[in-house]
Amino acid sequence: MKSIILGTGRYLPSNVVTNHELAQRMDTNHDWIVERTGIHERRYAVPGVDTTASMGTEAAKRALDAAGLTPQDVDLILFATLSPDYYFPGPGVQLQHNLGCRTIGAIDIRNQCSGFVYALSIADQYLRNGAANHVLVVGSELHSAGLDMSTRGRNVSVIFGDGAGAVVLGRTDEPGRGMLSTHLHSQGEHAEELALLGPSTRDWIPEIFQRNDPEDVSYFPRMNGNFVFKHAVVRFAEVIEEALTSNQLSTSDLRLLIPHQANLRIAQFIQQKLGLREDQVYNNIMRYGNTTAASIPIALSEAFDEGRIQKGDLIMMAAFGSGFTWGSALMRW
Ligand code: ACO
Repeated sequence: MKSIILGTGRYLPSNVVTNHELAQRMDTNHDWIVERTGIHERRYAVPGVDTTASMGTEAAKRALDAAGLTPQDVDLILFATLSPDYYFPGPGVQLQHNLGCRTIGAIDIRNQCSGFVYALSIADQYLRNGAANHVLVVGSELHSAGLDMSTRGRNVSVIFGDGAGAVVLGRTDEPGRGMLSTHLHSQGEHAEELALLGPSTRDWIPEIFQRNDPEDVSYFPRMNGNFVFKHAVVRFAEVIEEALTSNQLSTSDLRLLIPHQANLRIAQFIQQKLGLREDQVYNNIMRYGNTTAASIPIALSEAFDEGRIQKGDLIMMAAFGSGFTWGSALMRW
């Protein structure tokens, strides 16, 4: 028995924010953002309407509908996010409640941009060993509430957007179909190169207030952009090749690579490096920005609805991000 995706779903907030709108709030411009990142617009959560858990719930409902399943059929929830509604508990339990699932396990995954691939890897283990028949995997992010929207934060803020994607996995015994392998990696020595350092148990809110330092931006995400870029292009290519090699496959066998939508320039670099055709790589960062753990399931769901994924196609999902963490999941649809 192998695990296989039975249904996909996505939810994007209705609030479209263009580069021109950002240029009214900080010193940036449409051309700079497009040239460096490929992003034209992104979605921001509607205050009072969208939360990480609510967006994840809507995406999950759509994935369950697409699979022809109900919340009662779900045996395990995996919820990947770096932007939960609460410091604790994580949003997995909110999803269990919102959907009306049985009192099943709900695991929160916090591996940032790689969160969805990490979650797929765990789902695959539960399904292959028979501990679960259906696993719901959700990636959802609400970045907009926590970004530095002043010029000081522009190198990070213009990149990120909000949204959610979900998949339901089940089991198949059809020869050749299903998850072929997953590969996970981490390198914590670079943890602070792409991170949000406070508030945390090392630096809690009273200490931050006490410092009363207007230059203290520890509660905003920080990114060493060039450093991240250089590592991303190497690790993405490595982990994709690792998956292909371990299954005796090559890039020409791939129907579609769905990379984490970090930056269009990173995706184009990898495409070139691996010698993939343009139609073998799915990108939608132009419309949604970087939605971290949600980016792969949103892209997967869109690609599927556009007819870009058919039964029997070889689909590679690969991610790199904060941690650093990176990983891949290779599935014969
Ligand atoms: N608008 C206008 N100018 C800006 C902006 C902005 N939004 N942001 C930075 N700049 C300026 C900088 O101040 C700098 O000006 P200076 O030369 O006068 O000092 C200049 O542009 C170049 O800044 P860099 O940070 O060196 O810009 P770079 O060319 O590296 O591009 C970018 C920044 C796009 C973030 C790039 O480093 C990159 O692609 N990094 C990869 C990381 C990434 O994409 N992360 C995504 C999230 S992480 C993930 O998902 C893996």
